[in-house]
Amino acid sequence: MGKDVGFEYLDKQEESVFETFLKYTSEKEKSSAVLANLLRKLLNRDNLNLLDIGSGNGEYLRLSLNKIRARRLKRVSITLLEPSKDLIKRLRLIAKQFPPYAEVEINPSTFDDFVPSNSFDVILVSHLPFARDVLPRIYKRMLDMLNSDGCLVVVLRKNDDIHEFRSTFKSRLMKESYHSLTIDSALDIFYELAKTRSIEVSTCSANSELHLPIAGNMRDVISIVEFFLNKRWGEYPKDIQEDILSYIERKKGILLQTDGFALVRKTQV
Ligand SMILES: C[S@@+](CC[C@H](N)C(=O)[O-])C[C@H]1O[C@@H](n2cnc3c(N)ncnc32)[C@H](O)[C@@H]1O
Repeated sequence: MGKDVGFEYLDKQEESVFETFLKYTSEKEKSSAVLANLLRKLLNRDNLNLLDIGSGNGEYLRLSLNKIRARRLKRVSITLLEPSKDLIKRLRLIAKQFPPYAEVEINPSTFDDFVPSNSFDVILVSHLPFARDVLPRIYKRMLDMLNSDGCLVVVLRKNDDIHEFRSTFKSRLMKESYHSLTIDSALDIFYELAKTRSIEVSTCSANSELHLPIAGNMRDVISIVEFFLNKRWGEYPKDIQEDILSYIERKKGILLQTDGFALVRKTQV
């Protein structure tokens, strides 16, 4: 496991809590349809390079690419960066189900440790848990890794129910005000960078729902809560545990999700 990656991507029983979350959300299905539309336009010729930073189990990119397989591209080189040892096992299997035009390389390092040997036409960074204060430096480095007409695609949630859940309960657990990262924070950085760099920023979004299995599998509900709050259930004070369960009950187990996309295109001067 890379040094920057938390327990939420480690196997718990036979799956990580991130993968438990994936079983109950339509996020990847809905969001991958929007990503497919973007990639269809961006992967518009042969021999392009795509870097996916923090690929997870690879399912998000696989779903997207398989929706655009009809384009009959001959070759796209894809580098999947994934530092979690447990997720990488699944990533290796899922990468085999990428469409035939995708030539895939898996690199087990964090973004900070990654030293690319070439620049990229497309960089995808979806739901990466970077700290807010390092974002400007990280996004600048990603833009520097792009070819002169390359495009960075950032996916982060909007101010949705999961954002509200995270911000409320992480603040209580940490005993200080916490606001999980949203696409708006990323956009603020790109609009600032656009003052000094030749980039164009555009946006789109994808709505989905998380259906927590409150009637049948409270163990999975707790795992998903642990995924959101990056802390084991047993470590939460009793009153916070109770308030989390009441919050979920009030929502009838359904949390609305919105993925926000920032498309940051390099423009030539
Ligand atoms: C929430 S998952 C998102 C996976 C995938 N991108 C998606 O949208 O489905 C975040 C991923 O980022 C990886 N990750 C965390 N910190 C990272 C870092 N510093 N550099 C690269 N990947 C990182 C984790 O191991 C995990 O697989």
